[in-house]
Amino acid sequence: MNVAVVGIGRIGLPVAATIASKGHRVFGCDVNASLVERVNRGENPIPDEAGLGAMLKEVVASGRFSATTGTAEAVAQCDVVLFAVRVDVDDAGRADLQYLFAAAEEAGKGLKPGALCIFDTTLPVGTTRRELAPRLEVGGRKLGRDFHVAFSPERLLMGRVIEDLTKYPKVVGGVDSGAGERAAAFYREVFGGDVLQLQSAEAAELSKLAEGAYRDLNIALANELAMVADIHGIDVTEVIRAANSQPYSHIHVPGTGVGGHCIPVYPRFLMQGEGPSALSALGRDVNDAMPGYVVDRAAELVGGLTGKRVLILGLTFRPDVAVTFHTNAVDLLREFERRGAVVRGHDALLSTDGVRELGFEPADTLEGFDIAVVHSNHRQYATLDWAKVAPLIVDARNALDRSAIEAAGSRYLGVGRPATSA
Ligand SMILES: NC(=O)c1ccc[n+]([C@@H]2O[C@H](COP(=O)([O-])OP(=O)(O)OC[C@H]3O[C@@H](n4cnc5c(N)ncnc54)[C@H](O)[C@@H]3O)[C@@H](O)[C@H]2O)c1
Repeated sequence: MNVAVVGIGRIGLPVAATIASKGHRVFGCDVNASLVERVNRGENPIPDEAGLGAMLKEVVASGRFSATTGTAEAVAQCDVVLFAVRVDVDDAGRADLQYLFAAAEEAGKGLKPGALCIFDTTLPVGTTRRELAPRLEVGGRKLGRDFHVAFSPERLLMGRVIEDLTKYPKVVGGVDSGAGERAAAFYREVFGGDVLQLQSAEAAELSKLAEGAYRDLNIALANELAMVADIHGIDVTEVIRAANSQPYSHIHVPGTGVGGHCIPVYPRFLMQGEGPSALSALGRDVNDAMPGYVVDRAAELVGGLTGKRVLILGLTFRPDVAVTFHTNAVDLLREFERRGAVVRGHDALLSTDGVRELGFEPADTLEGFDIAVVHSNHRQYATLDWAKVAPLIVDARNALDRSAIEAAGSRYLGVGRPATSA
C-alpha cells in the first residue's frame, strides 16, 4: 500500500517511519525543505525520540520511505493520506487551523480516486466534517464518491511515539459512510494493535479532547489540594498517595502549571465548541495561576525577591524532551521578574540561543544563587551539588529527592509540601 503522511514533525515522522517499517511505501510530505533534505539523507531530526534513528536509516535506505515538499504529487500516488500538521491556539485562545487548511487544500489537488484521508491532529469537535473535508473537494472531487475522510487522533507521548502506537487502541471515526470502517482496517493492518471505531468523526474528536480536559482538570484538582495542604502545613504528596490507594482515585501530581501543546491546549478547543465548558475554563484558570502562587511561597521564605538571584533549571515543558511549547518556565521567569528578582535560565537540552529565545538570560554558572527552581528535572541534573547551587531549592514538579537536598544542606520547597525550616 502507498501512504502519504502530510506533516513529518514530532508525530508525523515516527508514524511515517513505523508504517514504512511494516513494508508499505510511505511519502513524508512537509513544507520545511531543509527537514525534507535531512530526512532523505537518513538523518534523524528528533534524537530524543526512542528508536527513530535506526528505523529511519533502515526505511530510507530500503527506499520504502522518502520525504518531499511536493505534497500533491506524492498524494497522487497514495491510497491513504494521513495529516499530522500541528494546530495551536492563537492569542485569543482559538484553534489556529491555517496550516492544516493549507495542507488539506494542497493534498486535495492530488487525491486519487477512492483515496482515504485521515486527520490525526487534535481538533475542535466538528472541524473534520465542516472545515477539512470540504477543503479536499478540489477540482470537482466529491466526498463519499471520489474520496473518503476519517478522524483518528494521535494519543502518543513525545519521546516514545513508536512504542505508544501499539500500546493502547487507535480511536477512529468516519465522516462519510464506510470511512470509519476503512480507517479501522487500515490501522489494524499497519500497526496490528487494537482499534476502537466510534460512530462518527465528531465522537472521535470529542474523545481526544476528553482525554486532555480530564488530565488538565485532574491536575487542577491536585493543585487546589496542594494549596489546601499548604494552609494546614501538611504534605500533599502523602495525601494523594493515600487517596490513590483507593482504586477509583487517580489524582495526578501538583506543579507549577501544565505545559506542552496538548494538555493546556485541548481544554481550549472544548471551550470553543457548542457545548458547556465551565469546568475546562476553571481548570485552565487554576493551572495558569500556579506559577505566581509558587513564586509567592518562595518569596515568603526568603523575605521578598527584590534583587534576589534566581536560577531556573530545565526550561523545556517536560523532563528529557527538548520541546518548549507552552513551557511554564517562561511563566516562572515572568513572575520572578515581576517581583524584582534577577533571573538566569539553564537547560541541559537547549543551546544558549535556545535559552535566549525563551526570554532567559543564560546562566554562566550553576552555583551561588539565592534560589534555584527545578522546572524540568532532566537526568543531567541528578548529580548537582545542591548546596553549591542555592540555599533554597524549589521543586516545581514535586520530582526531586527532598531528603538528598536537605542532606546537602539546602532548604527544600515543593508544591503543596512544607518547606524545610530555616
Ligand atoms: N507532539 C505531541 O506530543 C503530540 C501528541 C499527541 C498528538 N499530537 C498531535 O499531533 C499534531 C502534530 O504535532 P507535532 O508535534 O508533530 O507538530 P510539529 O510542529 O512537530 O510537526 C508538524 C509538521 O507539519 C509541517 N507542516 C506545516 N504546514 C504544512 C503543510 N501545509 N504541508 C505539509 N506540512 C506542513 C511542519 O513543517 C512540521 O514539520 C499536534 O497538533 C497534535 O494534535 C501531538
